[in-house]
Amino acid sequence: MTMWGGRFERATDEAMRRFGDSLPVDRRLYRVDVMGSIAYAGILRKAGLLTETERESMVAGLQRVRAEFDSSAFSVQPGDEDIHTAVERRLGELIGPLAGRLHTGRSRNDQVSTDLRMYLLERSEELGDELASVQRSIVDKAEGHLDVIMPGFTHLQQAQPVLFSHWLMSYFWKLERDDERLKGLQDRVAVLPLGAGALAGNPFGIDRQALANELGFSSVSPNSIDAVSDRDYVIEFLSFASLLQVHLSGMAEDLLLWSTREFGFVQLDDAYCTGSSLMPQKKNPDSLELVRGKSGRMAGHLVSALMMVKGLPSGYNKDLQEDKEPLFDTLDTLLVELPIVAAVIATLTVHGERMTSDLDEGLLATDLADYLVAKGVSFRDAHRLTGLAVRRAEELEVPLDKLELDEYRSIDAQFGPDVYEIFDFQRSVERRNVEGGTAPEAVTEQIRQARERLALSGRKRTKTWFPSS
Ligand code: ARG
Repeated sequence: MTMWGGRFERATDEAMRRFGDSLPVDRRLYRVDVMGSIAYAGILRKAGLLTETERESMVAGLQRVRAEFDSSAFSVQPGDEDIHTAVERRLGELIGPLAGRLHTGRSRNDQVSTDLRMYLLERSEELGDELASVQRSIVDKAEGHLDVIMPGFTHLQQAQPVLFSHWLMSYFWKLERDDERLKGLQDRVAVLPLGAGALAGNPFGIDRQALANELGFSSVSPNSIDAVSDRDYVIEFLSFASLLQVHLSGMAEDLLLWSTREFGFVQLDDAYCTGSSLMPQKKNPDSLELVRGKSGRMAGHLVSALMMVKGLPSGYNKDLQEDKEPLFDTLDTLLVELPIVAAVIATLTVHGERMTSDLDEGLLATDLADYLVAKGVSFRDAHRLTGLAVRRAEELEVPLDKLELDEYRSIDAQFGPDVYEIFDFQRSVERRNVEGGTAPEAVTEQIRQARERLALSGRKRTKTWFPSS
């Protein structure tokens, strides 16, 4: 039996039924669906549409349905199109015709989006916690390696010396912006569609504000047509997730490259690598490769959700049922992936001596130009003169710091014996003691700010839809 069979003469084609069913995907919404229905029964009671006894028996029935799902005792029947239908059908078996009153004024159109928003709010809180764990592992690692200088890269070429911690912290801030985006979008998820009915609103005088309070929403949707068709929150979430994933993949790529024998800057813990079935010596960094690889899938989910809503006529359309798979897969993926990322960073071995031994004197060419600037030369001239010195050193096949003073002086008379003091990587990073710069002092300050953010970002959980008890 379907919820809507009255006007139909013939049954749904069997293949069509399978095509339209969403229960295999939306089954996981059962807890929020039951929570929503319990609250809705309360509001029907308030509106005088149920007696207290009826409400109580409805609530008891709904709790039993939830318990059946919890214990995997729930038996799916043909006609259980989606989670909403399945719960109501079972409720009818348990409490009889009274179950038929639960849907008064409600439509699956306002119900499904209510469920999905509750589910997303709950899981995104967990996600926020996992994201903070990754950030914490970054800060801890950065703090533990403040003395490590490495070549900083642009265009994948050695550019200027930087602290390894400075590189690491660069990802903290990307993730911090992701966290801000997550918090921002949660406000827009917490808008209650229930009460919008199929599209026109609810005629039974229900108190939507009270429903919102009870279900942990911060406001009610201001337009019922918008309420049933709005999936902006899904798209915003997928956009947040795609960007987060892209950030993680960038960090993964740096570390993958640096873990090669050619670089040897870092080493991944065995626990996050696998071996080769053929080559006994291999240790493959699968964890980070998967982090990199999952980005395509996440961006694909974002695009699929955008395409789902593109050009949709107003109101609810069945196309919107396609919102769940990308959303659920994204949540599931991130909730498994983030703890792995945190652990990979926490267990990473940093070969500081290898990074330092790889520093080329050329990394200090900018410092050399700055030296001339300090003597009053314009930066453009200093840049050109230093370029000449680099070229001369290359011709003579000597490193920049071994180029004779005569050679320097033949390029420009302002070069003096103190030029050799420039060739000190430690001093080079120390000089960049600007806010946000790579000097140890500045990075220490960065770490302090990061810890402050982490301490402040304690998330305010207003409601738990999945009580652990
Ligand atoms: N399973 C549907 C979905 O996920 C629920 C809403 C169905 N509404 C309808 N009028 N058929 O979107």
